[in-house]
Amino acid sequence: MTRRFFAILCLMASASLLLCAAASSRLDRVPARDHDRINPLATQPESVAAGSLVYRDHCAQCHRADAKGDGRKKPPLRSDHLKLATDGDLEWFLRQGDLAHGMPSWSSLPEAQRWQLITYLRSIQ
Ligand code: HEC
Repeated sequence: MTRRFFAILCLMASASLLLCAAASSRLDRVPARDHDRINPLATQPESVAAGSLVYRDHCAQCHRADAKGDGRKKPPLRSDHLKLATDGDLEWFLRQGDLAHGMPSWSSLPEAQRWQLITYLRSIQ
């Protein structure tokens, strides 16, 4: 009887571990080198406007014009989760994408445009 109890407890613990692993995003697993990168365009005044144009052309179709996501699979880009990420985390994620979950890679954009996008996203948090 006690053994069965512990077996069930054990099962529940591993199930919740699995759930936690699934919930944590790739943004939490950025290599340290990328995590620490500084956005070279963060303080450039025209970055926000430039980033908003790139956003309109490439991102709004999924994340919506107001960056609030679609309430289902496409997440909001104004969120506590993003606030906690460094600019380096976001640049790495934009380069990688997560195609398995529907997020394309933006490695084909010039690097400056990725930093402008990030500056824009910071401005609307
Ligand atoms: C075809 C739809 C699509 C397009 C276009 C798209 N995304 Fe995404 N994006 C997604 C999906 C789906 C996810 C969730 C992926 C996941 O669960 O890992 C995501 C996740 C993200 C995340 C991580 C959010 C989080 O809370 O972890 C960021 C940041 C992001 N996208 C930024 C962008 C930017 C910037 C662009 C424009 C260059 C863009 N996306 C274009 C579908 C898209």
